[in-house]
Amino acid sequence: MIILAVESSCDETAVALVRDGRTVLSDAIASQIDMHTIYGGVVPEIASRKHLEAITVMADQALAQAGLRRGDIDAVACTYAPGLIGAVLVGVNFAKSVAAGLGVPLIPVHHIRGHIAANYITHPDLEPPFLCLCVSGGNTMLVDVKDYTHMELLGATRDDAAGECFDKVARVLGIGYPGGGPMDRLARGGDDKKYRLPRSKVDDAPLDMSFSGLKTAALNLLHNAQQKEEELDLPSFAASFGAAVSDELVPRVIEAAKLTGYGKVAAAGGVSANSRIRRDLERACEREGLRLYLPQLKLCGDNGAMIGCQAYYEYLAGNTADHSLNGFASRDIGQENWK
Ligand code: KG4
Repeated sequence: MIILAVESSCDETAVALVRDGRTVLSDAIASQIDMHTIYGGVVPEIASRKHLEAITVMADQALAQAGLRRGDIDAVACTYAPGLIGAVLVGVNFAKSVAAGLGVPLIPVHHIRGHIAANYITHPDLEPPFLCLCVSGGNTMLVDVKDYTHMELLGATRDDAAGECFDKVARVLGIGYPGGGPMDRLARGGDDKKYRLPRSKVDDAPLDMSFSGLKTAALNLLHNAQQKEEELDLPSFAASFGAAVSDELVPRVIEAAKLTGYGKVAAAGGVSANSRIRRDLERACEREGLRLYLPQLKLCGDNGAMIGCQAYYEYLAGNTADHSLNGFASRDIGQENWK
C-alpha cells in the first residue's frame, strides 16, 4: 500500500511516499527556517502562507523522487493535530483535496504519533509495546505505546517544552534559530558542572516535568553576567544547560519504563537529536538492562515519512476520516477518534 503523507504542523512543509508503513520511497521537505530566523521564532501567519506556496511543489517532488505517478497513490495521510492551527489546516485541506480527487482513503495522523513512528523506519525490528520519550519544540511527554494505535500519556511538561527552552536560551545567546542544534554544538568540550541550574520536581506527579524554572534561571544567569559585564564560559554554560535538561528527562524515562514493565525504550522528536540526551539515555538504559531505540538524526525533526509510517497502522486499525476532517491545535495522543 502506497501512502502519500503530508506534514505541515510547524515550519517544515513535508510530503513523503511510504510503502506498507516501513519503506520510505521519497521524502521531500521545504524548510522555512531561514524566513523565521529573521524574527527569532516561528511567525504563525508566515508559516501558513509558506506551506501554501510549497505544498504542491513538495507533492510533485515526492512523486518524482519515487518515480511514481498520482494513480499509484493508494491513500493520503496528513498531520491533523497538534500544531500551529493555520499551518495544520493547509496540510489537512491539501490532503482532503488530493484524497477526494483520487478517490482514495484519507488518514488523519497525530503529529506526535508520527514522531514515535520515525523509530519504525530506523529500526525495522521495533514493535510495540514500548515506552517513548517524545521531546520536540512544542511537546514533552512520556508515552506508553501499548500498540501501534493505542497510546497513553504517562507524564508531560507542566509548562514549556524542552525544545522551546533550548530555543529561548539560544535566542538570548544570539546563536540561531532553532536553538537546540547550536546549543548542542556549543556544549562540546564544556564543563557541565560549572554552572548550577535547577532541576524540578512536581509534587504527587513524579512523571510530570517542568522547564520554566530552568529557562528562567538560565536567562537570569545570562542577563546578570551581561549587566555585570562578566564573561561567561559559553561552552560550559551550554553543557550545564544540556545536563539540566537531560536530568529532567532521563531519570523519568527510567521510572516510567519500570512502571510499565517494558524492556524497550524509544525517543522521538527534534530534541531527541541532542547528543547529551542520547548519551545519557544510552548509559541509563544499559545500566537498567533496557533496550534503547533512537531515531536516525534526519528523522528526529519534522518529516513526511514518519506521518506515512504511522498512517499505515492507523489505516490497518480502521482510523480513516471522511471529508469533514478538521485540524486541531492540540489533541490528546491517546484519543482514537479524529472527530
Ligand atoms: O520535532 P521538531 O522538529 O518540531 C516540533 O514538532 O516541534 O522539534 C524542533 C525542536 C526545536 O526546539 C529545536 O531547537 C530542537 O527540536 N532541536 C534540538 C536539537 N535539534 C533540534 N534540541 C536539542 N538538541 C538538538 N541537537
